[in-house]
Amino acid sequence: MKVLITAGPTREPIDPVRFLGNRSSGRMGYALAEACVHAGHEVLLVSGPCELDVPGHVDFIPVETAADMFEAVRRHLGRMDAAVFAAAVADYRPARPADRKIKKQAETLTLELVRNPDILGSARGEFGFRGTLVGFAAETESLEANARDKLRRKGCDLVIANDVSRPGLGFESDRNRVLLVYPDHSEALPEDDKHQLAHKIVREIEGLRSGASKAP
Ligand code: CTP
Repeated sequence: MKVLITAGPTREPIDPVRFLGNRSSGRMGYALAEACVHAGHEVLLVSGPCELDVPGHVDFIPVETAADMFEAVRRHLGRMDAAVFAAAVADYRPARPADRKIKKQAETLTLELVRNPDILGSARGEFGFRGTLVGFAAETESLEANARDKLRRKGCDLVIANDVSRPGLGFESDRNRVLLVYPDHSEALPEDDKHQLAHKIVREIEGLRSGASKAP
């Protein structure tokens, strides 16, 4: 199958030398890209700035901002069989990035932020995507309920939920523990290395594609 994967953080410019970012390392998305290639799938990886090597045999589109990522996904999603949105997209960006470096003046500085487009949330409606749609949910409370709500709102077939309040797992870590949330049931995977988890997740996506029914 042809799979689009978003990964990494986005960077939202404040001025020519500063940005708003987040702690996403991109490891989960890159591990998924590698696992997909290993399973014989064609991969397009749309990635924010990461310090990771791009996996071999992957088509790669580097992006900086959420708006860049939105545009890359909009252009390529139509020919994909499945899409996995693993990127940690900034929900807000500075309303008016300065075109020169902001010099320090007063004791406080207020930045006005505006909402970024929801890329995953645009897949079904605005982009008309009919393939298998997989999102991620990073939650600090009510993991399953929040993930299930996200699954419904964004029209996903699967949401991979992780509890980001647990130190040493998830963001900036090699390991993660996730809950797979489907429309009709959930399944907890044991804590594992992100590469092992990626292989399991790819098998779940293949299962969704083949219509394999899973026990609720
Ligand atoms: N996502 C996206 N575009 C955005 C924001 C998020 O594609 N502008 C995707 C992420 O890649 C992830 C999922 O949506 O697959 C996360 O959904 P989101 O509602 O942003 O979840 P949280 O980041 O947990 O934010 P919140 O709980 O505040 O809604």
